[in-house]
Amino acid sequence: MACPYRDINGEGSSQEGVNNVIKGSVVYGEYLQLNKLLDAQELASGKAGKPVHDEHLFIITHQAYELWFKQIILEVDSVREMFSSILDEKHTLSIISRLNRIVLILKLLVDQFQILETMTPLDFMEFRGHLSPASGFQSLQFRLLENKLGIKQENRVRYNQQHYMEVFHDNPSVQALEESVNSPSLLEQVEGWLSRTPGLETDAFNFWGKFQQAAESWLDDDFSKPAQMEPDPDIKRMKIDEYKKHQESFESIFNESLYENAIKRGERRLSHKAFQGAMMISLYRDEPRFHQPSQLISLLMDIDSLFTKWRYNHVMMVQRMLGSKAGTGGSSGYQYLRSTVSDRYKIFLDLFNISTYLIPRHYIPSLCPRMKRRLSLKESSSNNNIVTDMGKLKKTSISEEENLHEEVEFQI
Ligand code: HEM
Repeated sequence: MACPYRDINGEGSSQEGVNNVIKGSVVYGEYLQLNKLLDAQELASGKAGKPVHDEHLFIITHQAYELWFKQIILEVDSVREMFSSILDEKHTLSIISRLNRIVLILKLLVDQFQILETMTPLDFMEFRGHLSPASGFQSLQFRLLENKLGIKQENRVRYNQQHYMEVFHDNPSVQALEESVNSPSLLEQVEGWLSRTPGLETDAFNFWGKFQQAAESWLDDDFSKPAQMEPDPDIKRMKIDEYKKHQESFESIFNESLYENAIKRGERRLSHKAFQGAMMISLYRDEPRFHQPSQLISLLMDIDSLFTKWRYNHVMMVQRMLGSKAGTGGSSGYQYLRSTVSDRYKIFLDLFNISTYLIPRHYIPSLCPRMKRRLSLKESSSNNNIVTDMGKLKKTSISEEENLHEEVEFQI
């Protein structure tokens, strides 16, 4: 082997080795089908006889977005696949790494608008006339992605009283869209998983009951008592109001029928049980077995935030390019897009709301020794070995069986 330090001039080993490329078998360009890819930028202005320089950037940018959308869909589908069957908890790591990949791609996509913004509105006007009625509104992959993540169909903003599906006419697109609406979304799968969080059982640790008591004690100590002891009547009234606001806010999660009504109004998406699970994971995230679930929750929120940022950057660019002109797809343009940058398009909205109900650390109910054990990695990994092969479970003592049952329930 050549001495790695021999080459003080930067030459030497750099020229060694066999040039496999000239032997040829798999060829770079063929493998990547670059002929197709690099031949797919046909300028509409060019066809009309007067190619406009910036239209090339416009096409490349859209194509790059669509390629990344394709990759995100692949990752989302794989995560949904993992969520769809009972898995060993060890698979959470794969889910986390795929979600993290989506997050990184989305960060790239949020920033990519800057490149297109180097085109001036005047440059855009030179070829915009050739595009109509093509519009991002017809991006099939964008709609599939929204549906697969779990956007609520009833929350979509209509434009011109049109349903978004009406712009798709070919059978494969319509079928793909229907399938994306009818199959379980990531939101629904996450909901099922959260509702199986260990510790929610009312006849065992009963997290929710304990949490309710803890929240009441905190409100009492930090808001109600100081308000009662306040001598100044104006400040007293203010403090009482503050206490009542907090109390009402907590009431909206502790009172099940209030919670269900909020779901009906579209203000909440997760079932009550799933919300309790998310709350529990957030409060006990330091426990080893909740490390990965809390990371997963955090990544889902990142995805939601980044989607909102994508919408925001897109609409800002649209305003810069078009002002308040209508879109090529026939919408009001800026006004329509601005209305999509809102909570109605947030998928994991409930996860953001968890912070509203966090209580100071010293009020968080202590875990009993059994619960502490259940949330330790040692306990869960020893049970996982048995859980992965559920069909072959042997009869064990009652307490062991109870434990196993609980472990199975939290499987993704
Ligand atoms: C100069 C650049 C752009 C302009 C002026 C523009 C303009 C618009 C307008 C006005 C709409 C509303 C629908 C309509 O009436 O057409 C729209 C929707 C959309 N655009 Fe763009 N766009 C631009 C770049 C992009 C890029 C680079 C992408 C990346 C794929 C994109 C993706 C979309 C999507 C997915 C929608 C549907 C959004 C929704 O309904 O929530 N657009 N665009």
